[in-house]
Amino acid sequence: MWKAVVTAAVAFVLLFCRSSTLDNGLARTPPMGWLAWERFRCNVDCVDDPYNCISEELFMQMADRLAEDGWKELGYNYLNIDDCWMSMDRDEQGNLYANKTRFPNGIKKLADYVHSKGLKLGIYLDFGTHTCGGYPGSIKYLQKDAETIAGWGIDMLKMDGCYANVSDMSWGYPDMEMYMNKTGRPILFSCSWPAYAGGIKVDYSVLAKHCNAWRNYDDIQDSWDSVTHIIDWFGDNQDVLAPVAGPGHWNDPDMLIVGDYSLSYEESKAQMAMWAILAAPLFMSNDLRSISPEARSILMNKEVIRISQDSLGMQGRRVIKEHGLEVWTRVIENKDFPSYAVVFLNRRDDGMPYKYSLTLDKIGFDYDMDYELSEVFTGQHYGHYDLRRVLTLHINPSGVVMIYAVPMS
Ligand SMILES: *[C@@H]1O[C@H](CO)[C@@H](O)[C@H](O)[C@H]1NC(C)=O
Ligand SMILES: *[C@@H]1O[C@H](CO)[C@@H](O)[C@H](O)[C@H]1NC(C)=O
Ligand SMILES: *[C@@H]1O[C@H](CO)[C@@H](O)[C@H](O)[C@H]1NC(C)=O
Repeated sequence: MWKAVVTAAVAFVLLFCRSSTLDNGLARTPPMGWLAWERFRCNVDCVDDPYNCISEELFMQMADRLAEDGWKELGYNYLNIDDCWMSMDRDEQGNLYANKTRFPNGIKKLADYVHSKGLKLGIYLDFGTHTCGGYPGSIKYLQKDAETIAGWGIDMLKMDGCYANVSDMSWGYPDMEMYMNKTGRPILFSCSWPAYAGGIKVDYSVLAKHCNAWRNYDDIQDSWDSVTHIIDWFGDNQDVLAPVAGPGHWNDPDMLIVGDYSLSYEESKAQMAMWAILAAPLFMSNDLRSISPEARSILMNKEVIRISQDSLGMQGRRVIKEHGLEVWTRVIENKDFPSYAVVFLNRRDDGMPYKYSLTLDKIGFDYDMDYELSEVFTGQHYGHYDLRRVLTLHINPSGVVMIYAVPMS
């Protein structure tokens, strides 16, 4: 019986995806890579700060790190430029071009370099009259800009929404998708549309037709406060958000800030675990030239990445929120019965690891079976649990325990 139900559900999902979501073959699992914004912002001061300014040098160095330090093999294969790469004006034909001081060889050469490393290059445009940083916007040039970036060999576009009217976005983002499609080059399309349209006040079925991912909410900043603020918003709105995520179309809670200045070791694990549960795109925004071994080991954890990249693509849900403790569960593909990834997130700050006991029937496990449990970061095995055996965990303040539960056949 259950098998028929699952099969019918999967068939429905496949049908839904085929008929009404963006069909460019991209982002079948949440995209992964590196994005400049959170860490390098609009730093255009290459005179005083040549090592950290937005320039082709910076992107070539990050490409080298992605390719040579093991990131690419784990799936981090997009290298993404954000705002402030352009010249302040278009050329006489109305074409965009990169700032010649900071990108002397132009974007096409940079794309060639990035491709030679086995990576993909992403770029940034803004739908409105100007980018958020005040550079030329695309509203009157959508087709031209689609052709320009396709001609350069761009593989992903993040299209921001500063200096635009939200009401124009409902034709603008779909038009941009159409023009990119017409170029014949598959370009992963990340739309900032919902972030400007109030987050949940958009028709996500339209989004899924035209975008591979979309920024729903506020920009992430370098603080634990910002991370938890975003987690809360995704939890509070999960009934709208979770059903619209799936292969080819993802909610995007914004970049990973693991490896930056603010997060502790526990908080870093927590962000990585939560982004995997949320089926979020995994774009690091950090300095890969000097990242600490601790941050690296979290971002390179194969188990977490495997959960993030699960082929079912089901976004996880917050199933318990009590006493400063949250439990988030994500269904993971398995042979006959699903596996589950579970994050126990301790939002408390009272010093000691928090002792928490529960049974699996309380946290979204659908099938009455025995499960083998292990911890994702430590590899610790907990043994076998049916739905009613009490599991007791100790979760560090501002930290997580992340469990992977596999049904025993
Ligand atoms: C290029 O960027 C530099 C800052 O690095 C700026 O001074 C210059 O005006 C920019 N050039 C154009 C044409 O936008
Ligand atoms: C938004 O719409 C108003 C009214 O149509 C218009 O005056 C304004 O220029 C628009 N703003 C942008 C950034 O397009
Ligand atoms: C363009 O759209 C069609 C129809 O959805 C799709 O089959 C094709 O793969 C798309 N091409 C590109 C380059 O995205």
